[in-house]
Amino acid sequence: MANDEQYSQETQDSKLMIDHDYDGIKELDNPPPPWLMYIFYASIIWSVFYVFYYHVYDGPTQIDEYNTEMAEAEAQRPVNTFDENNIALLTDEASMAEGLKLYGSKACDACHSASNIGPDLTDNFWINGGSIADVFKIIKYGKAEKGMTPFQSQMTDEQINQVSSYILVKMKGASTANTKGPEGDEI
Ligand code: HEC
Repeated sequence: MANDEQYSQETQDSKLMIDHDYDGIKELDNPPPPWLMYIFYASIIWSVFYVFYYHVYDGPTQIDEYNTEMAEAEAQRPVNTFDENNIALLTDEASMAEGLKLYGSKACDACHSASNIGPDLTDNFWINGGSIADVFKIIKYGKAEKGMTPFQSQMTDEQINQVSSYILVKMKGASTANTKGPEGDEI
C-alpha cells in the first residue's frame, strides 16, 4: 500500500518535473490552487471596470467623497440660535445642574480653585467683564496668552451658556479655595 502511494506520487512528480537541474536540485511545476487563480482572474476583470469607472468616466475620487461627506456633516450640524450678541442668562435648575457638571467635567476648577492659576470666579471682580456675554466670550474664545483655554471646540454654545450662567448665578458670592484675591474691576 505504502509502495503504491509512493509510486503514484513519483509518477505525478515526474509529470510536473521541469526540465532543468540546478546542481542536482530539481523543480516541480506546481500550479497554484484553482481558488487562488479564480481570485486572480476575478481581480483582473474587476480592474477593467475600476479603471473605466474611475479614470475614464470620472467616478468620484477620494477627495470628492471626502468633500461630499463633509458637506453632509455640515448640513447636519445644529445651527446656533444665539451667540455672544443675543445670549441670555439662564437661571432654571436644569441649566444650573448642567453648568455645575460641566464646571467639574471640563476641569475648570483645576485652574480656578486652589491652584490659583486663574482668577477667583466667586467674587465681584472681573478682568474681562462680568456680564453674561463677557463670561460667555472668555470661556468660548479663551485667552491663550494668559492661560485661559478656549472651550469652543469642547462645548456647544448651549453648554457654554449653561456653565457661564452657573458661574454668575451660583458661584458668584459662594466661597472658594481660590485665594488670589480680587482681580480686575468690581462689577
Ligand atoms: C489652564 C487653566 C484654566 C482652565 C482649565 C480654565 N481657565 Fe478660566 N481662566 C484661566 C486664566 C489664567 C484666566 C485669566 C485670563 C485673564 O487674565 O484675562 C481665566 C479666566 C476666566 C474667566 C474670566 C475671569 C475674569 O475675571 O474675567 C472665566 C469666566 C473663566 N476663566 C471660566 C472658566 C471656565 C468656565 C472653565 C472651564 C470650562 C475655565 N475657565 C477653565 C485659566 C483657566
